[in-house]
Amino acid sequence: MSTAQRVLDALRESAGSAVSGEALAREIGVSRAAVGKHIARLRADGYAIESAAGTGYRLVGAPDLPLPAEIEPLLSSRRWRITGRLETASTNDDARRLASAGEPEGAVVVAARQTAGRGRFGRGWDSPQGGVYLSAVLRPPVSAAEVGSLALAVGLGVALGLERLGLPVALKWPNDVLLDDRKLAGILLEMSAEADRVEWVVAGIGINVHRGTIDAPSAGFARDHDDSLRSPQVAAAVLDGIDVAYGQWLDTGFAPLLAQYEQRLSLMGRHVEVRGIAAELRAAGVVEGVDADGRLLVCDAEGLHPVASGEATLRSDTGA
Ligand code: BTN
Repeated sequence: MSTAQRVLDALRESAGSAVSGEALAREIGVSRAAVGKHIARLRADGYAIESAAGTGYRLVGAPDLPLPAEIEPLLSSRRWRITGRLETASTNDDARRLASAGEPEGAVVVAARQTAGRGRFGRGWDSPQGGVYLSAVLRPPVSAAEVGSLALAVGLGVALGLERLGLPVALKWPNDVLLDDRKLAGILLEMSAEADRVEWVVAGIGINVHRGTIDAPSAGFARDHDDSLRSPQVAAAVLDGIDVAYGQWLDTGFAPLLAQYEQRLSLMGRHVEVRGIAAELRAAGVVEGVDADGRLLVCDAEGLHPVASGEATLRSDTGA
């Protein structure tokens, strides 16, 4: 636990009454100057901390931001170790660096905004303050080929977490999360594999919480559905949901999760086109579900086509 976090915990434990800098320094085992430095850092992160000569510091408000100190007390899962700060270039880049340096499974990097967020297909991911941006390091003992279904399991986990908050979400294959047919969350899985053994996977998730500067009509926001939701709550719920789905995927593979995934699949029974990164057509037809490898099953006049990757869009010419 960082010193700033311990200062924060000590202020929280004092339940709104003031604690002197000296008492904080003694409790945490640092100098008074160090306490002052950490108080300044917490204030810069948006914590409202009053200070009065002779009485000390008093916590009067916490920011609605996905900071480690706000998320950790809300987490049920013990899988995750959270680090992060207000702003970073990309939490996926941060998590990749940690993974490459040997960080064990369970490290999570969070940020309240990103300056170079990345999406699928090499696109950018607009990441202003008001969203939750997080990336988890996973080390599943599987081959690279098995990671296809992991992407769907992570999507299912995000959906399970958001449902616990009362959000009626759907999944758009492979792993977009929709709210009222608008994109609420996007997921980017990146991996490193050696001799067909996965070394690490970084699962990066971006969730729109507050309707802020993103004005794309296709974007959904958690608070449009429930304006009492807070970003740390959303981050904790999503991490708890991923813990459940990932744990099951590790134990039993994707097959037992398939029915839960299909129940939430927005494309089920609908006419789609699936295109690859260069917009080449991979399949067009009616979606019949997904298979145990996470492939989308698209049925046309010639039969059933399992599609491993791509982007699916509804075929407008059929009125679907
Ligand atoms: C998509 O294209 O739908 C995937 C978007 C994934 C965005 C998240 S935000 C947290 C993590 N850091 C990144 O740079 N990207 C992912």
